[in-house]
Amino acid sequence: MCWKTLLCCSLWLLLLKSNENLAFKIPSIDFEMLHELGFEVSIPDEPGMQRVFYMLQIDDNCPALMDYITESNNGSWISRQKTSLQNNDKLQISVLVQYNDEIYEKSETRVIINARLLTTRDGRSQSITYPNGEGECHAYLSPQKQAKRCKPAQSIVSSSRQTCQGELLFEDNFSEAQLNRSTWKHDIRQRMYHVEEELVAFDDAPRNSYVKEGYLHIVPIVASEVVEGSFKLGDRCTAVESPEQECNIAQGSFYSIKPPVFSAQIHTRDSFSFKYGKIVVRAKLPKGDWLFPYVMLQPVSTYAETHYAKQLRVAYARGNSHLQSNQQEDISGSHLYGGMVVWPHGRAMQYLKDRLSKAHYGDSFHNYTMIWQRDKITLMVDEEIYGELYEGLSFFNEKCFIIFGVTVGGFLNFDDSVLAKDVKPYLNREPRAALSFWQQRDTWAPTWGKHSSMIIDYVRVYAE
Ligand SMILES: *[C@@H]1O[C@H](CO)[C@@H](O)[C@H](O)[C@H]1NC(C)=O
Ligand SMILES: *[C@@H]1O[C@H](CO)[C@@H](O)[C@H](O)[C@H]1NC(C)=O
Ligand SMILES: *[C@@H]1O[C@H](CO)[C@@H](O)[C@H](O)[C@H]1NC(C)=O
Ligand SMILES: *[C@@H]1O[C@H](CO)[C@@H](O)[C@H](O)[C@H]1NC(C)=O
Repeated sequence: MCWKTLLCCSLWLLLLKSNENLAFKIPSIDFEMLHELGFEVSIPDEPGMQRVFYMLQIDDNCPALMDYITESNNGSWISRQKTSLQNNDKLQISVLVQYNDEIYEKSETRVIINARLLTTRDGRSQSITYPNGEGECHAYLSPQKQAKRCKPAQSIVSSSRQTCQGELLFEDNFSEAQLNRSTWKHDIRQRMYHVEEELVAFDDAPRNSYVKEGYLHIVPIVASEVVEGSFKLGDRCTAVESPEQECNIAQGSFYSIKPPVFSAQIHTRDSFSFKYGKIVVRAKLPKGDWLFPYVMLQPVSTYAETHYAKQLRVAYARGNSHLQSNQQEDISGSHLYGGMVVWPHGRAMQYLKDRLSKAHYGDSFHNYTMIWQRDKITLMVDEEIYGELYEGLSFFNEKCFIIFGVTVGGFLNFDDSVLAKDVKPYLNREPRAALSFWQQRDTWAPTWGKHSSMIIDYVRVYAE
């Protein structure tokens, strides 16, 4: 298909003219493997040959490799390709030769066996004429430009260009001196008022998020003054849905407490989003009671600040070292989860896969991978696949951006109806959850420390 299209459209608008008595027969095509360096095809020069155009297609991949040769070299018309070939690769070679102002064409399909070409379909040589008149060549082709070998991927990126399978679409190693502020934006607002009951304010203060020696740190810090009084984020506030509640806490308000914890959440909504692909995050998750990491993707039709946004959770494990559900299930930080959270009819529906480990996921770095395909989500930690999801994918039919954050509490993260009774120092839906949480700080603050940061080594997104 691609081959035909290329032949017909991208170069010379061809008209095949059957001609039994050809004046010129394209010589047989020579092939040489250059080992790691790629390969070379050539035909010997003959007086009268003016130009040669090669199209090379490997295993029906698009785009095909193209090379337009205007000069013979050492008696040959040579095209060198940097793509390396392997055994059993099928190579389709098409060559157009301009000979005494007439065009001749020849195609062959060959299979590589032990670094040699085995011809499976022999070419025939035939002459071709231009449609007529002006411009012989409508396509601009640079002979120097090497087409890369590309298996088309289903991944979609912002520029909506074609992606190739395995192509790196996004990367941040956090190896610069500072967080790249054109890639990452901060979510700045307090999260206490809403039913989500996250007991934090996210801010862009350097102590809550910084890059150091190649790592991104997101650091939840207990506030020094957690008292009554007003709290104002002013113009820096990024809340979109309820700025009146999320940007300020009025003196003497119902909540009667300022945020007990400051932390950070960053996202790529303005700089990078993709649909389908593989995301790999090498990270150490936070440890400490009621801490919760966000390593996720969210649709571009939402903001990082959207309540009840659909989320693709690349990985999470709760900060607690010990935590059980009311069914005696271990839901501490030794239990890793990944998958989807969606909100049909305003109620949470989760499609999750999980893996229970002996150690807390915050004890060391792990590589967390989500492979998001049209019909399947695959979840991996390090080299191990721990789950595949086939349902719920239709909720994610648009490009998503990356979010990293550390929060505290959250009614879904620490669901009262799932947790064993009386283990949490506050109830999600009690009006002053943050106040209870703060008053009970002796129960949780000692579990926090240096290990409470989320540390990210790198994030990479590849086309699938
Ligand atoms: C042409 O042949 C000469 C001598 O064999 C060689 O040194 C040179 O590298 C060749 N040029 C190319 C472009 O292959
Ligand atoms: C990120 O790190 C990888 C592995 O060390 C390296 O290959 C790559 O070039 C780095 N990328 C950037 C943008 O620094
Ligand atoms: C920040 O990221 C942008 C886009 O990825 C890049 O062009 C720019 O060079 C980066 N800035 C720094 C200081 O690394
Ligand atoms: C994670 O990936 C890195 C390469 O980026 C590798 O060096 C490391 O061994 C992997 N870690 C684990 C725990 O598999």
